[in-house]
Amino acid sequence: MNKKRGEWSNHLGFILAAAGSAVGLGNIWKFPGKIGANGGGLFLLIYIIVVAVIGLTIMLAELAIGRSTQKNAVGAFHQLNKNWTFAGVIGIITLFVILSYYSIVGGWIMKYIGVYLGGAHFSGTATQYQDFFVNFITKPIEPVLWGLLFLGLCIFIIIKGVSDGIEKISKILMPALFILLIGTAIRSMTLPGAMEGIQFMLHIDFSTFNTDMLVAAVGQAFFSLSVGMGILITYGSYVGKQENLFQSAVWICILDTIVAILAAFAIIPAVFVTMGADGLGMGGGFAFMALPNVFASIPGGIIFGAVFFILLFLAALTSAISILESIIAFMSEEFHITRKKAVAWLFVPLTLLSVGYSLSQLETRGINLPWFDMRNGLQMLPMNAVMEKFTDNLMIPLGALCFCIFVGWVWGVKPAIYEIENEGALRFPLRKIWSFSIRYLAPIAILAILYFTIFKGVI
Ligand code: PFF
Repeated sequence: MNKKRGEWSNHLGFILAAAGSAVGLGNIWKFPGKIGANGGGLFLLIYIIVVAVIGLTIMLAELAIGRSTQKNAVGAFHQLNKNWTFAGVIGIITLFVILSYYSIVGGWIMKYIGVYLGGAHFSGTATQYQDFFVNFITKPIEPVLWGLLFLGLCIFIIIKGVSDGIEKISKILMPALFILLIGTAIRSMTLPGAMEGIQFMLHIDFSTFNTDMLVAAVGQAFFSLSVGMGILITYGSYVGKQENLFQSAVWICILDTIVAILAAFAIIPAVFVTMGADGLGMGGGFAFMALPNVFASIPGGIIFGAVFFILLFLAALTSAISILESIIAFMSEEFHITRKKAVAWLFVPLTLLSVGYSLSQLETRGINLPWFDMRNGLQMLPMNAVMEKFTDNLMIPLGALCFCIFVGWVWGVKPAIYEIENEGALRFPLRKIWSFSIRYLAPIAILAILYFTIFKGVI
């Protein structure tokens, strides 16, 4: 992403850069876990519908705001209507919390790269992969150090201003990740015993429908597409006036969803093989627990595994950098401080949250931390679950709701469509449907989600 108000070099450059922000841990670490926890095929179907109908609607709205104002999220709202500046601020708060746990999981990936490159490979019983992972993330110090290393790397890249290079890497990264995922999915689906996992993914049983599933699908879709946090406003501000926003948004949604589905087909069958159906209850972390089993069954699996985790690391890095860049740009522009100072201010609270996230893995896995348990069983919150639900089920939908209301009712669909149609140079075929969606469908659906989250205790 350019730090000057530049433009993406071409159509593909923009789509790949936006896809680079969208494709990340959400697709490979979170998505398969969500499918596992929410009953398989039906969740997958709901997810795809949410992406196509609501995700795409909001993505287009964000891109239109960005290109029209040529500003970052907070600045854009401030310019269009000062009273709505808070909508951009909601996005920044959400990004801050996401980054705190994104770094810890980024650290887990670095650890796995080390494991594979060191050749200290797993072999033997299936549960070994699971034990190794749980053992590692529930250590008090080591995962924290890896997480801080990941965060430090992001900060280094941002301060050195070499993020342009990172964007260039993502042009190679995307296709490479794609090919590797296809290969891994094929191997995973052909492992002995994988059929059960494939059936789980494809079987749609409407009787299993529940509202938790809906909340999870919306939260996951927004997180994965990077919508509802203002990132795409910033990205939109770098898009040339001749660019077709609708087409680009469709492509970003398709690419992100294909990667998520491929990851699920690479991971879920392997979960069944490695841990059986009971493994689905483990929630996230499948990429770390199930994939090593797939790699172990491939000749040259150590190399395969190392390459996979390196690509996953780069995918996580491009997403994390886009998050950090947005926060730093906001702080330095709005508070008139240098980028270095902004990083310094950010570092302590971000580190504390990250450490809390990592340490709370111990609690949630039933390991008591005596030093957090000092006063009559007053225990540390299971911060990992709380933080992920706080962002996915509450803050991201809240941000997305504000964006919908703002574009649909405050700024107005007319100027937005004028922007989407390149000031009259092209025609947006779905203008009527989109207007209906941004004014009624998306906000009502999000309100329902927030209702379930707040009043039915999904959070
Ligand atoms: N969409 C990214 C993922 O799926 O991992 C996460 C993310 C990136 C969230 C950028 C927010 C963001 F601004």
